[in-house]
Amino acid sequence: MLSVNAIPSAIQTPLNTPPGELPHRWLKHAVWRAANSCMLGGLISWPLEQSWVRVEQLSMPLHNLGRPFDGARLVHLSDLHCGMLVREKHLRRHVEIVNALDADFVAITGDFITTGSRRYARTVAKVLGDVKAARGVVACLGNHDYGRWHPKGWGEVKGIADYLSERLTNAGISVLRNASRKFVVGEAMLQFVGLEDYWSGQYDAEVAFEKVDCEHPVIALAHNPDAAPQLAAMGAEWILSGHTHGKATPDTRFWDIVYPTRYKQFIGGRYALGRGSLLYVNRGIGNAWRVRAMHLPEITLFSLRNATQGQRSLLAPARQTGDRGAHSVRLPHRLHQLEA
Ligand SMILES: [Fe+2]
Ligand SMILES: [Fe+2]
Repeated sequence: MLSVNAIPSAIQTPLNTPPGELPHRWLKHAVWRAANSCMLGGLISWPLEQSWVRVEQLSMPLHNLGRPFDGARLVHLSDLHCGMLVREKHLRRHVEIVNALDADFVAITGDFITTGSRRYARTVAKVLGDVKAARGVVACLGNHDYGRWHPKGWGEVKGIADYLSERLTNAGISVLRNASRKFVVGEAMLQFVGLEDYWSGQYDAEVAFEKVDCEHPVIALAHNPDAAPQLAAMGAEWILSGHTHGKATPDTRFWDIVYPTRYKQFIGGRYALGRGSLLYVNRGIGNAWRVRAMHLPEITLFSLRNATQGQRSLLAPARQTGDRGAHSVRLPHRLHQLEA
């Protein structure tokens, strides 16, 4: 757990608090529980707790990763939710942390805004324009970036996704909407694929992968982890997601209607998908009306590694730096039909 004011030294320190837990202070726990029960979990971005954030450090083994990219630093952000509850000042603090991490790449997996407001689209683009990454910043959109909070399109604000994308692009961010971007150094190539959100009605993995060469490493950005098994089957070695805010979707009829979730086992952290693919679900740095439950904002720092020595051996160092290790999940039978 890191104080914003102590980032440079603290990021080298193994984390010893299980991801997502707040400090054991009974009063704060009581406040958060009361806030969450009143749908006011966005208080986490208010002064009461805004000085806390977790920086997760993980290895990212990739097969055939060229030497120029071996050791590159990739910072992953998600779910900024710029809006009434998550203000510019809160986001700027996180941008300062990102810039202290000396990233080669920054990947942002959507939900830049919450309510479909153009004002907040401008704000978040302005803040993210200050993100520094030696090689580039790539992003995909999340459901809230279309105004949507349900796959049936409830809440959609016409044109907001295009408006936001344009603003982010003008701020120097590659917004990948069913598209890919290649980074090439000599013979080496690293590819990012970004998907339209799974609930947007525009999600199309076939189109997104059209220009991808699976002989070279592929990192997919998909806001909703429900897309991950399909993207793994299409050749993504890593899938970066967000959307859950580190919170499980209750297995009840009510939640199945208001918040349909296909793979409820994807909550937060790292998951093995089979065939060597891995999913990382970022717990996000902002908030929304679907509140977090006692989870700190998270920034994830990946260290890219060539996996020629075998993925299993390369996962070990991640555990030593405080990671809980990959979660293995048994996926439904229909996934295997999808992969076939
Ligand atoms: Fe979100
Ligand atoms: Fe979302």
